[in-house]
Amino acid sequence: MRRRSIVTGAAGGLGARVAERLVRDGSPVTLVDVSAAVHETADRLRSLHEGARVLTLVGDVTDERFCDAAVSATVSAFGGIDVLVNLAGVGGPGTPVTETSAAEFRRVIEVNLVGTFLMSRSVARQFARQGKGCAIVNTSSILGQQAVAGDCAYASSKAGVALLTQVLALELASLGVRVNTVSPGNMRTQMHFDYVRARADERGTTFEEELEAIRRTIPLGRHGTGDDVAGTVAWLVSDDAAYVTGQTIGVNGGVLLT
Ligand SMILES: NC(=O)c1ccc[n+]([C@@H]2O[C@H](COP(=O)([O-])OP(=O)(O)OC[C@H]3O[C@@H](n4cnc5c(N)ncnc54)[C@H](O)[C@@H]3O)[C@@H](O)[C@H]2O)c1
Repeated sequence: MRRRSIVTGAAGGLGARVAERLVRDGSPVTLVDVSAAVHETADRLRSLHEGARVLTLVGDVTDERFCDAAVSATVSAFGGIDVLVNLAGVGGPGTPVTETSAAEFRRVIEVNLVGTFLMSRSVARQFARQGKGCAIVNTSSILGQQAVAGDCAYASSKAGVALLTQVLALELASLGVRVNTVSPGNMRTQMHFDYVRARADERGTTFEEELEAIRRTIPLGRHGTGDDVAGTVAWLVSDDAAYVTGQTIGVNGGVLLT
């Protein structure tokens, strides 16, 4: 289904897989990332999908002028915007509240929550200019749904994203725009592997041992993949989800059920 889309955090991890799925489904996609590696991701998409319409923008979602510029560039390239997928994010310092500096806390909130707000605001203003839009998908986490000691900044940022999503869903409903949250858990990406490595260092175990220990806590018996999130996003932006708005959709193998 053709949807003119912006995907943030598209250089790698979940964002690259979501961008690829949207391209595969025929959508023109703007790939946004603070890392210049996003150009390689775009080259790969162009080589995999003949005729792919892909724009790349290197920039920081915490910079409001960049967010506005990303929207303008997308409108110039594709004639409008239908979909925004906010996947840019950073992990937290993994420290208890008493050992977390204000600067660390602010940095995580700034990227994960303020960045989501700024990109959503820029795109919502464009939807208003167009008189319509389709969907925004934001990204929370299992750590934004259930308290876990040692990740206060990340948890706060991701819980904030879910409520921001609901406010946006109310405010944009009259334009026909649906706004939902995907909430992944334990995905096979760099961010999760960094967490696993830190956990192994702390406990004096190995990376493989910790990965396996986490796997055993997941009812479906495996880690998640970018394609698991991409499939959920593809559904949320499709007409099949035309009556779904303001929801948090867990993509976590059932881990919160245990
Ligand atoms: N991996 C998991 O298990 C997991 C679980 C729950 C939620 N998430 C969330 O999913 C999203 C994607 O995570 P991932 O696992 O693919 O991580 P990742 O680190 O592989 O990808 C994150 C991407 O965001 C980009 N980014 C970071 N700061 C940015 C900024 N200020 N402006 C623009 N781009 C920026 C990075 O360069 C990177 O390409 C994140 O929001 C993350 O919090 C991941």
